[in-house]
Amino acid sequence: MGKGRLVVVSHPYAEHLLTILRDRSTGLRAFRETMRKIGLLLAMEISKEIPARKVYVETPLGVKAEGKLLDTGRVVVVAVLRAALPLVEGMLEVFEDARLGLVAARRVEEKGMRPDKTFEIELNYTSIPSLGREDVLVVADPMLATGSTLVEAVIEILGHSGKPGKLVFATVISTRIAVDRLRNRFPDAVIYTVSVDPELNEKGYIVPGLGDAGDRAFG
Ligand code: URA
Repeated sequence: MGKGRLVVVSHPYAEHLLTILRDRSTGLRAFRETMRKIGLLLAMEISKEIPARKVYVETPLGVKAEGKLLDTGRVVVVAVLRAALPLVEGMLEVFEDARLGLVAARRVEEKGMRPDKTFEIELNYTSIPSLGREDVLVVADPMLATGSTLVEAVIEILGHSGKPGKLVFATVISTRIAVDRLRNRFPDAVIYTVSVDPELNEKGYIVPGLGDAGDRAFG
């Protein structure tokens, strides 16, 4: 069995945006706006996974130029509520014709993180467009801490909405343990992230991380 691919998006503007997100003094409005920008930037990178068709256009000089147009109608973006909302808003600026799905999931934090660094997950709501072999499924969640939520969400999606041709995860900060979990569970997937942070604390929060992405964005 192969192992899913990891792509770390690490150019200076991505690092600039990530630094603003990490900074505890960044307020709610700036946090949301920065998350939107990072979503746009991640989607630009993820566009390498999207089919493109060759076209010919006529330029103002009256000559034909060969070009490529992304088939963004083949993209299905799934937002894991609520933290992914601003991230996905930015992604949809690139994936203009994408269909959108929603997953509401909660880590049962009252029960604590298990010794194998997983959480029990409560999936409260899913609404996913039906998926076909031509589709690229992009599951967005800014914080990939243990991978528990994304594993549960994707099992549910693949079980009830069909099989996409390609599975992509769009995350901002991840941990090695969660990346490995997704790569083992979904060997054909591609994981895009901006940073792989070194630690998970005992409560399952990423360190240094940025805190609770949902609370930072929405209060
Ligand atoms: N979810 C968050 O929002 N932050 C973390 O550090 C972990 C999970």
